[in-house]
Amino acid sequence: MPSARLGATESIRVLVRTVTGLEQLVAAELTTAGHRVIDLSKRQLVVDAGESILSEPPQLADDLFLIAAGVEDPGHTKAALNTLSRQLRRHLTVPLPHREPFAVSASYVGKRTYNRYDVEDLVGAIITERTGARYHSRRTGTPPEHRTDWRVVLDGESVHVGIRPFPAPLHRRDWRRHTVPGSLHPPVAAAMAHLAGIEPGQVVLDPFCGAGTILIEAQQLEPDAEYVGVDHAKASLRAAERNAAGIQWQLGDARRPQIAADRIVTNPPWDVRLAIGNLTPYLNSWRDVDAVVAIVNQHQVATLTEHPAWSSRSVHDLSLAGLHPSIVVLRR
Ligand SMILES: C[S@@+](CC[C@H](N)C(=O)[O-])C[C@H]1O[C@@H](n2cnc3c(N)ncnc32)[C@H](O)[C@@H]1O
Repeated sequence: MPSARLGATESIRVLVRTVTGLEQLVAAELTTAGHRVIDLSKRQLVVDAGESILSEPPQLADDLFLIAAGVEDPGHTKAALNTLSRQLRRHLTVPLPHREPFAVSASYVGKRTYNRYDVEDLVGAIITERTGARYHSRRTGTPPEHRTDWRVVLDGESVHVGIRPFPAPLHRRDWRRHTVPGSLHPPVAAAMAHLAGIEPGQVVLDPFCGAGTILIEAQQLEPDAEYVGVDHAKASLRAAERNAAGIQWQLGDARRPQIAADRIVTNPPWDVRLAIGNLTPYLNSWRDVDAVVAIVNQHQVATLTEHPAWSSRSVHDLSLAGLHPSIVVLRR
C-alpha cells in the first residue's frame, strides 16, 4: 500500500464516502478519532484528517480518497467539461506515488449533457499527463484487478477528485468469504454495533445472524464482549462459521433464544423477498434484553417503535441498494 508522506503536524484532506443516512454517524466516528469534518453532504464528508486515518480508517465509512483537487462544479453543459479541464489542470496535485494501471470512476448529481465516461476520460488524461501512468478507460470494459483507483464526484456545488490509498474499497472486508441472501453491507452492521453501545463483558445476541456480519463487525469494535449468533438455517450457520470461527453460532429459533443476552443487534428478514412481517412476537420473547438495535423495513418500523414495553431512542433512515430500511434503536 502506498503511504502519504506527512510531517507530524500536517493533516491530509480526504473525501469519505458513506451509505445514505450514515453521514452523521460517520462524522461522529471521525471526530471521536480526532479528525476534523469540514463539510458534510449527502453520501460524503470532506475531512482534515491525521495520518492515523490511513492505518485506522473509519469502520462505518464506505470508502475513502485522498483529495487531489477540489474545484467548483462547472455545471451541466458540454462546455462545462472545458471549464473542468482547465480548473483541474491548474489545481490537481497527485498526493501519492502512483501504481499503474489506473482507472477513474465518476458520479454526478442532476442531469448533464455529458456522461460519466466523458468525465472519467478527461480526468484520466490529466493524471496520465502528470504521472505518465497508463489509464484504463471504463468505456472500453472492466479495468484490470490490480490498479490504482481514482474517484470523481460532482455534487452540484463542487467537484472532488481523489485517489484511493488502499488496495480495495473500505466496505470490502477481508473476513467476508461467505454471504447468504440478504447479507448486510458491513459498514451498516458496524453502525448498528456503534449504536448498541456494547460494553466489555456484555452478552450480545443476533437471533437472525445469517452469515454473521453484525456480530463480526461488533466484535471488531468491542472485542471484550461475548457474542452469540442464532439462525434456523444450517446454511447460514455454515457461512457464519467460515467467516468467523471464534464466535458461538447456534441453530435455533429467533423467538426462543436459549441465551440470556444484554443486547440484541439484528437484521430480521426485511427485504420484500424475504420479509417475516410483524416483529411483535419476537420482541415479546426477548425478555432479558435491555436494548435492541434492528434494521427493518418501513412496515416493521411501526411494530418496533410502538411496542408498549420498549421506548424508541432513535430511527436512522437509510438508502441501500435501491431499498429504504431503517435502523431502530430501542431501550426498555
Ligand atoms: C436477512 S438474513 C440476515 C443476514 C445477516 N445479517 C448477514 O449479514 O448475513 C436473515 C436470517 O434470518 C434467518 N431467519 C429467518 N427467520 C428466522 C427465525 N424465525 N429464527 C431464526 N432465524 C431466522 C434466515 O435464515 C436468515 O439467515
